[in-house]
Order: sequence, then C-alpha cells, then structure tokens
Amino acid sequence: MEVTNKYIQYEDVRVPGGVHTVESLNYAWKEFETRDDDVFNITYPKSGTTWLQEILSLIYSNGDPTPVKTTFSWDRVPWIEQHGGRQHLENKPSPRLITTHLPFHLFPQSFFKTTAKAIYTIRNPKDVCVSLYYFSKYAQFMECREDFQDFVSLFLSKDIIFGRWFEHVKGWLTMKNNPNFLILSYEDMLKDLKGNVIKICKFLGKELNDAAIDSVVENASFQVMKDNPMSNYSAVPKEFFDKEKGKFHRKGIAGDHKNHFTPAQEEEFERIYKDCMKDINISFA
Ligand code: A3P
Repeated sequence: MEVTNKYIQYEDVRVPGGVHTVESLNYAWKEFETRDDDVFNITYPKSGTTWLQEILSLIYSNGDPTPVKTTFSWDRVPWIEQHGGRQHLENKPSPRLITTHLPFHLFPQSFFKTTAKAIYTIRNPKDVCVSLYYFSKYAQFMECREDFQDFVSLFLSKDIIFGRWFEHVKGWLTMKNNPNFLILSYEDMLKDLKGNVIKICKFLGKELNDAAIDSVVENASFQVMKDNPMSNYSAVPKEFFDKEKGKFHRKGIAGDHKNHFTPAQEEEFERIYKDCMKDINISFA
C-alpha cells in the first residue's frame, strides 16, 4: 500500500488519506458483517450521496424530520469505508443505513450472502466532474487543480478518487438484475422527487402514507437541505472544508457542465465516454 500525503492507494483505487486508512478500507471490504436488513446508499462522489442520506433517513423516520434536524448526516448514514466506520456501525441498531463510494469489487464481501438492499445513484459524469472540481477547491483532503482543463484531465485519469466514473458505474451495473439492487438517476430525481421517493419506499418495503411521503420530499429538497446544518456540512472544521472557498450545496442542477466545458473539452469527453460505455445502455437528460 502506498500512502501519499493526500491519498492512499488501496488496491487499484486512490482514496483521500485524511478520512480513510488502510485499516478502515480493509474493514469495509473484508471484515464488515452485513445484516439482512442493512440498506446501502452507494454513489460515485458528487452524484447525490447526501441527498440519498437525507431521503433514507426521512423514509426510516416515516417522514418525521426530527432525526435529520438533530443528527449529522454522516452519523445517521455513515460511510462504511471511512475512519470510524467500524465504531459507527458495529453497535448501530438495525436497520442500519450505510453510505459508500466503494467500487463494486471493493464492496463488503459479506453483502452477497445476505438479503441486504443497495441503492446506486448515477449522475451525468460531466456534471459530476464540475461538482467535484468545485468540491476539490474547498475540501482540504482533495488534490486541487485550479485550471478546469487540468481537473478534467485528472477526472478522466485513474488517479481520480475512487477510480474513474466509467469503471465505477460499469462495475455496479453488473448488479442491475439483482432484486436487492435499485438504480436511481440524479437527473430523474430532480424531475420527479416524489415519484422516486415512492419507488424507493416500494423497493425497501416501507409503507408511508401521503403526508409522510410529502414530508420526505419537502425535507429532502435542495433548499431545505442547504439550510439544514445537520446536512450542509457547515459544522465541518476548516481543516477539512474551507468554507471561504466554496459550499457543499452549490447549485444542485442538471446540465451545469454546459457552463464549464468548452466545445473541445465536450468532444474529448464524449469520445472517451462512448469508448468506455459502448456496451452500456444509459443516457442523461
Ligand atoms: P453541485 O455541486 O452540482 O451543486 P454528493 O452528496 O454525492 O457529494 O453530491 C453533491 C452534489 O449534490 C452537489 O451538486 C449538491 O449541490 C447536490 N445536492 C445535494 N443535495 C441536493 C438536493 N437536495 N437536491 C439536488 N441536489 C443536491
């Protein structure tokens, strides 16, 4: 294992060193004992992770916003692979809601022997790239590239955190026919959050009445989350997030890449996308 000042090279992926350790990654992959009623929130970074943390928390409180107003998102739906994952999860009562950015091949091996459920949210990779670019400016554990072109090059390389978007998505899509696996689209959630909340409830076997569904939708809206100190990362100390350089709830829209990519960058990205994803049938609004 190579440990750089910012990153840990773990198997074939790089992860930020500050919040991960080799021990925490080993725990997630090899030692974690999945329970049958665990629910995993899986994403490539900047694809709607925090949004799903909020939605799942609200579904499991039957629409009561108290937990999302009183407990930090990372305590409610902790990252399994981060430093502290073991302590967070071992004693957590069931059903546990668990977040991960791990690629499919480094996901907890015990999951596959259980009836636990997993939700994978996919976002347009060009918007992911833009969102991660801004994130890298204020997240102190990220390697920052001031120039957007430099960042696009990093994003398209194997040095980007958690591996390239293409391999992450392709790895997880191998699960698409598994009945315990649900795929969501960030763009579709923007268009119809209520429909997606109902879909998630159905997948999880959770029966919420109309008022509870409406409460989930309202409390998981961009504006409400942006103003919720339990979900907007405003409480994170400056050594992790420098809030003078950016904020977590930035725009929350689809298509912001159009404001950032030049025609040449767009063309290059599309060429790589088509090459990498040629056998995969997904499209983005
Ligand atoms: P932008 O940087 O494009 O605004 P993650 O939680 O995976 O790190 O993703 C962060 C991205 O999701 C950010 O995108 C953030 O604004 C957006 N986001 C967070 N909560 C959201 C919500 N309720 N609705 C829409 N987008 C949301």
